[in-house]
Amino acid sequence: MPILICGGLGYIGSHATWALIEEHGEEVVVIDNLAQGHLAANIAGAHLYVGDLGDEQLLDTIFTTHDIEAVIHFAASSLVGESMIHPLQYYKNNVLATYTLLAAMQKHDVRKIVFSSTAAVYGEPASIPIVETTPPQPHNPYGETKWASERLLHWCDHAYGIKAVILRYFNVAGAHVSGKIGEDHEPESHLIPLILQVALGKRQEVTIFGDDHPTPDGTCIRDYIHVTDLVNAHSLALDKLRRDEESATYNLGNGQGYSVQEVIATARRITTHPLPIAKAARRSGDPAILVASSHKAEKELGWSPSHSSLENIIASAWRWHSQHPDGYK
Ligand code: UFG
Repeated sequence: MPILICGGLGYIGSHATWALIEEHGEEVVVIDNLAQGHLAANIAGAHLYVGDLGDEQLLDTIFTTHDIEAVIHFAASSLVGESMIHPLQYYKNNVLATYTLLAAMQKHDVRKIVFSSTAAVYGEPASIPIVETTPPQPHNPYGETKWASERLLHWCDHAYGIKAVILRYFNVAGAHVSGKIGEDHEPESHLIPLILQVALGKRQEVTIFGDDHPTPDGTCIRDYIHVTDLVNAHSLALDKLRRDEESATYNLGNGQGYSVQEVIATARRITTHPLPIAKAARRSGDPAILVASSHKAEKELGWSPSHSSLENIIASAWRWHSQHPDGYK
């Protein structure tokens, strides 16, 4: 039975579509509104619907045409800074769209979903590494809308038996080993692609947001996870739903933190570019340190990241960006 991937033309969604079709032989239906997705990221073999998750009629058509077994829901607005300026957009694209999707699932009797959540639900956690029992306390509309969606999923399990595996991503980066798909956001705001734009000569310097954080070198520490490892967790989550039909929540990170300065130093070695830096004030809403414990996913899903050394993440991203300096254009 086919899997519906919402946001399958986006960065993570396209990697997941590739893995499900090419590595797991699954039948895949994709819906994407092209807000952040790219037609060029379409994976051969997927049944593609270009349209919005808020479009109830389109969802009806998809669920009527295809006997969908499970949904993987990547589609979302996902930038912390943008969410502070446009909270309405975030509630519409994240909470309302998830509501519409769940209503369609309930109507068409689809009872399995893998949901993309985020480290942003934790806000500024009191202790590191972050475990799944750390109380969510989001500091921005992005984290808040993902947390609200998590609660909606909880109640849809309670009331309708829709089982959800919620995956809380830390800092996803890197590109597919084929070199054919990678990260292309417009505008770009993530550290690693921005660093690589400097190496490509598209930007003058890397701006460091704050060197006065309470960390050893003063710059923020993050837990970077390779997109290939991340998407592997989604097929394991599907296996779990098929196996035991129980809802669960998992962190997905590498368990190791790197400062902004350490990321830049690694990128200097890989790109052989001097990567000049400029120091700027802290970015509003940035927690100093976010590092995951992913032991629960390792234990219960049998997941383990094997592509997520910082070198491998940056080298794979560098391969993609140097071969596609203008992204998918
Ligand atoms: N940074 C810079 N300069 C830049 C861009 C980023 O110094 O030009 C720093 C940020 O301040 C942060 C780190 O690099 O300390 C990583 O920033 P990203 O924008 O790449 O990623 P975030 O950590 O802000 O975002 C990630 C996920 C979000 C999630 C968030 C939780 O991408 O989905 O963590 O805080 F919400």
